[in-house]
Amino acid sequence: MAVGFGLLFSLLLLSPHTLVGVSPPCPAGCRCYSLTVECGSTDLRDIPRLVPPSTQTIFLQDNVISQIRRVDLTLLKHLHYLYLQNNSISGVEPGSFHDQSQLLELALNGNRIHLLTPSMLQGLEQLRILYLSGNDITRLLDYTFKGLQVKHIRTHRSLHLAT
Ligand SMILES: *[C@@H]1O[C@H](CO)[C@@H](O)[C@H](O)[C@H]1NC(C)=O
Repeated sequence: MAVGFGLLFSLLLLSPHTLVGVSPPCPAGCRCYSLTVECGSTDLRDIPRLVPPSTQTIFLQDNVISQIRRVDLTLLKHLHYLYLQNNSISGVEPGSFHDQSQLLELALNGNRIHLLTPSMLQGLEQLRILYLSGNDITRLLDYTFKGLQVKHIRTHRSLHLAT
């Protein structure tokens, strides 16, 4: 009886994922739950790898991420919300959002972006809100947001739209 009880108890401690051996990855220092990954204020220098591919919301604010690279988001094809405010992002590699056709909201405010080009934003077909305030953008070309359906672009007050 004692052995049987011990075995049952052990099985109860195992999560269903452990039982089938496919524990979804969660980046070190982050919290992962119900299609959400929280990695705010964790001193991250890069967008983490090993984010569960089904993730819809990812919080990466208040870190020291310095760039967004093409490879960073290619495995995440279901993102709806991407929060990168208050980092040190100065560069966005063209094509970084190529696979982000489902992204609705993108927060890039409070970074060091000084140049924004159409190729950086290419792929953001569903984007509704783009936060850009608190960057070093002083000039935008009028076609930068061409092809996007962004309803709200929150930029710095002194931004000049070049025509
Ligand atoms: C930005 O993030 C740092 C941590 O990296 C934090 O200490 C600071 O309070 C944040 N600033 C704002 C304006 O949220």
